[in-house]
Amino acid sequence: MSMSIDRRSFLAAGATAATAAVLPAAFGQGESGGGRPVRIGLIGCGRRGSSLASVLLRLPDVRVTALSDTNPANLQAAAGLVTAGGQPEPARYGDDPEAWRRLLERDDVDAVVIATPWDLHAPMAVAAMKAGKYAAVEVPCALSLEECRALVDTHEATGVPCMMLENWSFRRDNLAVLNMIRKGLLGEMVHCHCAHSHDCIDHWFFDPQGNDRWAARFLIEHNRDQYPTHALGPVLSWLDINVGDACATIASTATASRGINAYFARKFGPDHPGARRKYAQGDIVTSVIRTQRGRTIVVNYDMQLPRPYDNRWMVQGTLGLYREDPSTVYVVDRSPKYHAWEPFAPYQKEFDHVWWREHGAAAGAAGHGGTDFLELKTFVDAVRARTQTPIDVYDSVTMSMVIPLSERSIAAGGVPVECPDFTGGRWKTRRPTFALEA
Ligand SMILES: NC(=O)c1ccc[n+]([C@@H]2O[C@H](COP(=O)([O-])OP(=O)(O)OC[C@H]3O[C@@H](n4cnc5c(N)ncnc54)[C@H](O)[C@@H]3O)[C@@H](O)[C@H]2O)c1
Repeated sequence: MSMSIDRRSFLAAGATAATAAVLPAAFGQGESGGGRPVRIGLIGCGRRGSSLASVLLRLPDVRVTALSDTNPANLQAAAGLVTAGGQPEPARYGDDPEAWRRLLERDDVDAVVIATPWDLHAPMAVAAMKAGKYAAVEVPCALSLEECRALVDTHEATGVPCMMLENWSFRRDNLAVLNMIRKGLLGEMVHCHCAHSHDCIDHWFFDPQGNDRWAARFLIEHNRDQYPTHALGPVLSWLDINVGDACATIASTATASRGINAYFARKFGPDHPGARRKYAQGDIVTSVIRTQRGRTIVVNYDMQLPRPYDNRWMVQGTLGLYREDPSTVYVVDRSPKYHAWEPFAPYQKEFDHVWWREHGAAAGAAGHGGTDFLELKTFVDAVRARTQTPIDVYDSVTMSMVIPLSERSIAAGGVPVECPDFTGGRWKTRRPTFALEA
């Protein structure tokens, strides 16, 4: 595949375009264009990868041509999904932990979808961009500032887009709220709250028998917001982060670590090793991000205490506010009663996003309330048109940088730490592109 990419013309387009930037001809023409299907290579065929494969197989004019996984059973099962979907047997790469690199050499792969453990995301996405393949990488896209920098540098050097698959940015309610904000209903934005409150102890960090899964080691070794992207996804677009504002500082505090030991003692008895092992990770992490324009965002990590799922989104401006739970809104001069909540449902109807109006029926059956469908559809549409992806590399690393920055702040006693500006100052002139309606 030809890889001569005009980096300067891509950056110029990306810096000024109000709509999705068209990539240089040298990158795109004649590759996935010409009316033939978009060809996807999937790296990581576990729970999430196989679920993403099922969605990809439902999209028109998409082929899953190659798979990589070091687990033979997962590789086999994913290949079965592809053939059951009526597509030819995909090429398979699984004989060693580096086998995925050979998938990237294939001419019949336009883009890769990466759904492996966290520490593999950035190296795989960097290698994909270097090979000229669009990269869609699961959350988080990076664990360290060095990985964030490598993703941005590689994107800027190659011109190849990289999108973190942050599905909550595509939620129907969150996109309606974005439309309300863009139409000025809530006035000037001032403050947001968001959380990932999701008890993942017994199926994700550990298996139901109490054995470590790959994510367990992060709880043993680190004290930080381990998973900030689902909380921050919609907030970035609500506050125009990287396109008019930017994160300036973050200050984080963690509670003591009690929940994991308590879970093991409750389920397996006080003598179980999990009940006695020391975990670095506090149960609740609260971070306050202050932006360059003086807005604040409270982000909560909350994944190891027993509780129902919750994101606790709230966005507040000079004319009103929206809160996700309970689904209510208050808008000056519009809400019928002074200082009284009203239901969000009529606003959802009035400000429903075009993606949901046009694709809601198809999206509805896919995972995570249809958001998986929309994120993959819009990603694949960008690959087909050789345009920038709906979530770009700057937004991807901005959501992920909270992981290392919160760890640094917690270790320093909660002091604010400076957020790197991965746009190199261009946040002042860049304009929103995510989910724009015509
Ligand atoms: N966006 C969402 O809503 C959402 C939901 C669940 C998981 N995820 C993300 O998806 C990712 C995967 O999570 P999961 O629950 O599917 O984990 P999993 O353990 O079920 O799957 C990971 C897969 O990667 C494979 N793998 C490991 N090393 C590999 C290598 N070197 N080469 C190729 N394959 C390799 C494993 O064999 C496994 O099949 C995680 O990053 C997680 O954060 C996102």
